[in-house]
Amino acid sequence: MSSNALTLGDPLLDQEHAELQRLIDVLQAAPPDAALAALDALKAHAALHFGQEDGDLRRLGGANATCHLDEHAAVLRSLDEVRAVLERPQPPADLVGRLAAELSRWLPEHVQAMDAGIASVRTRERFGGAPVQLTRRSAS
Ligand SMILES: [Fe+2]
Ligand SMILES: [Fe+2]
Repeated sequence: MSSNALTLGDPLLDQEHAELQRLIDVLQAAPPDAALAALDALKAHAALHFGQEDGDLRRLGGANATCHLDEHAAVLRSLDEVRAVLERPQPPADLVGRLAAELSRWLPEHVQAMDAGIASVRTRERFGGAPVQLTRRSAS
């Protein structure tokens, strides 16, 4: 996956999404005896990151924000569900791999479809309500 798919131009969001992807990759590569620790590290970062976005979303309100909040909650729930299965004797061998693959598919879509809205709100607020527009000068 190209890193552009995770890049929105907001330094904090970009760094947090890159770290999320790194932790998903660690989970994907984890041997069975390291899977729980890798899952816990991913959950901790995801909970922190989603929590910060959720603060913005609650402030903004509206249907898009509700949808976005729901998606964060669903991901955290999935991580908890997989963790519960992993703690059982003889969990399915491909469970963690399937979760990691699904998260790698989900993350860039989520970033581009939902987090892009947060990036533009944060940019607007940083620049005192004036959106920054970069336009190419026409060659004349
Ligand atoms: Fe995000
Ligand atoms: Fe998000």
